[in-house]
Amino acid sequence: MVTTTATTNTDDINLLEEKGKKHNQIIQKTYQNNTDSDYTEKIASLTKKFNYADNSNYYWGKPELSVFYGTPIYEYASDSQKLALNHLYWVTQYTQTAATEANTILYNQITTGVLTKVGGYQTLCQELDLETYQERFHINAFQQIGYKTKISLLGKKFLGNPLYKNHQQEINSDNKLFNLQNWLNKLGFSKTQESFSDSLLRSIVRLMNGNNVKYYSSYLEEKYSENIPITRGGLVAYAASQSFIKFLTLNWGTSPFLASQYYALRMIGNMSLKAYEYSYYKLFKHLEKNNEFIPDPTAVSYYHLLDESFHTTMSQTISQDLYKDLPKPTEYEKLIANIVIYLAQKNIVGGFSAALPHVFRNDVSAMSTFYRFLTSPVFNMSKEDALNWMERSLCNENEGIHLNFKHHQDMIPAMCRFVEPMDFLWPVNREMKIMSKNSSIEKVLHSNTAAFQNFSQSLI
Ligand SMILES: [Fe+2]
Ligand SMILES: [Fe+2]
Repeated sequence: MVTTTATTNTDDINLLEEKGKKHNQIIQKTYQNNTDSDYTEKIASLTKKFNYADNSNYYWGKPELSVFYGTPIYEYASDSQKLALNHLYWVTQYTQTAATEANTILYNQITTGVLTKVGGYQTLCQELDLETYQERFHINAFQQIGYKTKISLLGKKFLGNPLYKNHQQEINSDNKLFNLQNWLNKLGFSKTQESFSDSLLRSIVRLMNGNNVKYYSSYLEEKYSENIPITRGGLVAYAASQSFIKFLTLNWGTSPFLASQYYALRMIGNMSLKAYEYSYYKLFKHLEKNNEFIPDPTAVSYYHLLDESFHTTMSQTISQDLYKDLPKPTEYEKLIANIVIYLAQKNIVGGFSAALPHVFRNDVSAMSTFYRFLTSPVFNMSKEDALNWMERSLCNENEGIHLNFKHHQDMIPAMCRFVEPMDFLWPVNREMKIMSKNSSIEKVLHSNTAAFQNFSQSLI
């Protein structure tokens, strides 16, 4: 067994070279470039100096990157409200990104614990540790800027209210196919089990992995000997119910192949982020070239994209290539890897918002956020006016929903190209059939209408 601390760099390079050239060179080069870069430091100093008042009169991204863009509310909004909607879009998106990057911190450490047991991946483990270090600064930047912006625009009353409600309830009731209980019942486990204790989940995962736990993550062993860690937000939490996520966490922390395939899920997140973050990057470049004022959040997005480009390279390399070095997957491991992509298609990119450009989920879990925006000091609407505008903007066809439908359509072939090299994936995943099937304005309007009715009734 080789540990990250016991292996010298030379040993590591030799082992890597034995295991194949191309992707190991990519890992070495990415780690080197990432170590040499100073983007994280730039983000940290921008976070420190951020003051909303200094940035409040400028667009942080192009107008298309605004909450409600293209909907009747946006048409109605004054110039200052449009500016606020542009800032609130940045805050909303990066609040989600912060939660997803908290997922990265957890799963990078779990993966490092698995690869340490496999041996020969010291540089990769160092790169993942570096990413984890960087994500802490990213999360801090998004939270600090988000907090100051929300206080300035929405007031203290808004704080404590999540920008999205907890979506677990929705996933639990909506997700019959991947309800862990239903699924395991089909495999012959207890029919009466209401929820799964951590020890039962451990037994199931051990059994399904043929009692092969020699690669069980040292991180989980050391930090989570009693309870299985929980993710309460971000992309992973969107994918499935809490029980199912714990089940996946154990699988990702037990099998080297499945550890590598967590990065397929992460890549879907990287691609979704880049779809809009690149636009902030271009704005930064344009402002810099013209010697114009660059708002701090725009600069944070710019440097974040640069930091994340290293992470994206790793997600792609690990999920598409590195798995070929690892022990060949069993049928069970292939099944779990397929389920993860299936869940991602269904719950992470399985639709699109009518009011948040580049968000590839319908607006079911965002109703309360939109309501709070409209009743906040930015719009100061009465309950009746807010509901009226929400219904017009979220439940009817308009330019906003058509634009986001196009963004979703553009993402489908990009996702297909990403999964194409993974030959263990089922056709439904390789061709992104669930994502394509749900790419429908009619379906979004249908679910938004039902969610809006529930939401408005809950206020009475
Ligand atoms: Fe990040
Ligand atoms: Fe990242």
